[in-house]
Amino acid sequence: MRSSPVAWPLGVLAALLLSQLCSGIKWLTLSNSPVALHFNHTQNCKLLPNLVPTQTQVCRAHPESVKIIVQAAREVKTTCQKTFADMRWNCSSIEIPVETPKYRPDLDRGTREAAFVYALSTATLIHTISKACAAGDLKMCGCANRPSDAPDPDFRWGGCGDNINFGSPLASRFVDAPMKMKRSSSHANKLMHLHNSDVGRQAVRKALVLKCKCHGVSGSCSVRTCWRGLQDLKEIAMDLKTRYLSATKVVHRPMGTRKQLVPKDIDIRPVRESELVYLHSSPDFCSKNEKLGSVGTQDR
Ligand SMILES: *[C@@H]1O[C@H](CO)[C@@H](O)[C@H](O)[C@H]1NC(C)=O
Ligand SMILES: *[C@@H]1O[C@H](CO)[C@@H](O)[C@H](O)[C@H]1NC(C)=O
Repeated sequence: MRSSPVAWPLGVLAALLLSQLCSGIKWLTLSNSPVALHFNHTQNCKLLPNLVPTQTQVCRAHPESVKIIVQAAREVKTTCQKTFADMRWNCSSIEIPVETPKYRPDLDRGTREAAFVYALSTATLIHTISKACAAGDLKMCGCANRPSDAPDPDFRWGGCGDNINFGSPLASRFVDAPMKMKRSSSHANKLMHLHNSDVGRQAVRKALVLKCKCHGVSGSCSVRTCWRGLQDLKEIAMDLKTRYLSATKVVHRPMGTRKQLVPKDIDIRPVRESELVYLHSSPDFCSKNEKLGSVGTQDR
């Protein structure tokens, strides 16, 4: 018997809709892949679970990047859990089975927690690729180009800079692919995830700092060689955690000719580029509630 959509109870519709929503971070299930993945054959890219076509294309175009992507997926998981170890929400729901990749509601709805995880995922993949370029772990890229601006009299450019000009576009193409698919999820969710992904990109740019090595007689540091290097991922995660704590709730509303995300409670202003945004409030995460995706704080 076929039931017409109008006759479906709201709950069923909502469940169907929710199951469509957050496919954007399914690539994180790659964290379960064996370390010594061997990608010597284009066919192998098809075997990677839970990727959308554009992500498979990245694999095919750059097979050597797969081990870096797997490494990044693991780092997202451990960094998220370390960064939130002292919080009520402790990022345990980031771990899901590869075979039935379905996130709990805390990450499957457009929550503040999802905002953090999307931003961290983007930041982590950029960080990992950019550092791998500098470390010589990838053949397709190397050290960042030396800045052309005249250096300070007391230092000269040298060393090997982390290559975010290579890492950022490649990582972004990969992580944002699910949100750029036509039918992937609601427009509001896509806008939210893409915005937060961009906040992750900014956080990495901000973490690119001047690093120097001293030379000179007996450590006199009369000459310094400097390059732009990335801070540790945990610093970036702390920055994003601060933005998580002050994240802005938004609504999806017509602005001009298109629907946009705008802050819900504040006077009319556009969303700031630097702020994390979310569409749905979270529970307080004190007590266990499967329906809301809360594991609670028992035994902690
Ligand atoms: C690819 O790797 C697999 C396992 O590592 C190996 O059995 C196979 O011969 C390799 N194929 C090519 C084309 O190198
Ligand atoms: C998160 O908290 C729950 C409930 O206290 C606990 O069972 C789980 O092991 C914690 N997970 C992590 C990764 O700390």
